[in-house]
Amino acid sequence: MYHSIKWLGNSVSILDQRLLPTKEIYYEYTHYTDVVDAITQMVIRGAPAIGIAAAMGIALAAKRSEAKNLSELKEELHFVIDQFAATRPTAVNLFWAIERMKKIIADSTSPDELREQLEKEAIAIHEEDIAANKAIGLHGARYLADGDVVMTHCNAGALATGGYGTALGVIRAAIEEGKKIKVIACETRPYLQGARLTAWELMKDGIEVTLITDNMAGHFMKIGLIQKIIVGADRIAANGDTANKIGTYSHAVLAKAHNIPFYVAAPTSTLDPHTPNGTSIPIEERSVDEVAYFQGIQIAPEGIFIKNPAFDVTPAQYISAIITERGVIENPAQYGIKGFLGN
Ligand code: MRU
Repeated sequence: MYHSIKWLGNSVSILDQRLLPTKEIYYEYTHYTDVVDAITQMVIRGAPAIGIAAAMGIALAAKRSEAKNLSELKEELHFVIDQFAATRPTAVNLFWAIERMKKIIADSTSPDELREQLEKEAIAIHEEDIAANKAIGLHGARYLADGDVVMTHCNAGALATGGYGTALGVIRAAIEEGKKIKVIACETRPYLQGARLTAWELMKDGIEVTLITDNMAGHFMKIGLIQKIIVGADRIAANGDTANKIGTYSHAVLAKAHNIPFYVAAPTSTLDPHTPNGTSIPIEERSVDEVAYFQGIQIAPEGIFIKNPAFDVTPAQYISAIITERGVIENPAQYGIKGFLGN
């Protein structure tokens, strides 16, 4: 069985998602800087997974630190945390995990205690994420009916999380309940998470999946081939606006036009009550080479202007429900996520 990330005690094992679907290669990192690089270079990606990776990286840094006293160790760890915080700006799970690690740092009274507690917290963040995904699956499965064809975008599966997945977790749970579900995976230009990762992990599970290019989605909605759409999220603002992989917004607008329910599945670590709405969500701009080159082959003229935002924001009005491990926010356009987290 594959894993996106695994804590090994004195090191972290991470699957290189850049090489999928043709090669399944794991790296064993013993130094936190390698984990920083792994997040930046997309060896590991997906909102919950990068939060877990940062937590494990911080725990690793504490273990290997040669700091002589508590204040030296704390200072060193804040330097480490700044590097993780600078890796990817959009997924709030990264900052949520960092906040949990910061609280441990603030509360610890000895270097040994701090090292031990950081390791425990990183493991807890991983285990809680898997449990959250299973609970999301149970809450979400009722929205999928026997015989549904469900479209998804990007990869919100086991690879993007601690395991099981959010959007793909709902599909897995519905299938485990005995429903026949078929999946349409959008390829997800330019980074191809749908083609390379979602297709790979669903096929590994024996779940029937059909790959389409992103621009085919409207056509398949129009001819009635898609009954539901379910995606993950990188950050859900207070009013319910949701950042997810670039292309998600177009699918949501098309879904509304064709009366197709559009669900977002995400753990509460993706909810960001401090960001009022979608326009305040920072959107990562990635290298223009991801658009100009395809597998190393130049596909656009030299010198052409290129834009490459990695995410877009779907306004809450297009979202039928947000499925979390604590329950479902129906019609998020009405009240957003306010009240849901008890704030
Ligand atoms: O750039 P990526 O691959 O990290 O983007 C991932 C996504 O947009 C996912 O849909 C999102 O993180 C949800 S993962 C459960």
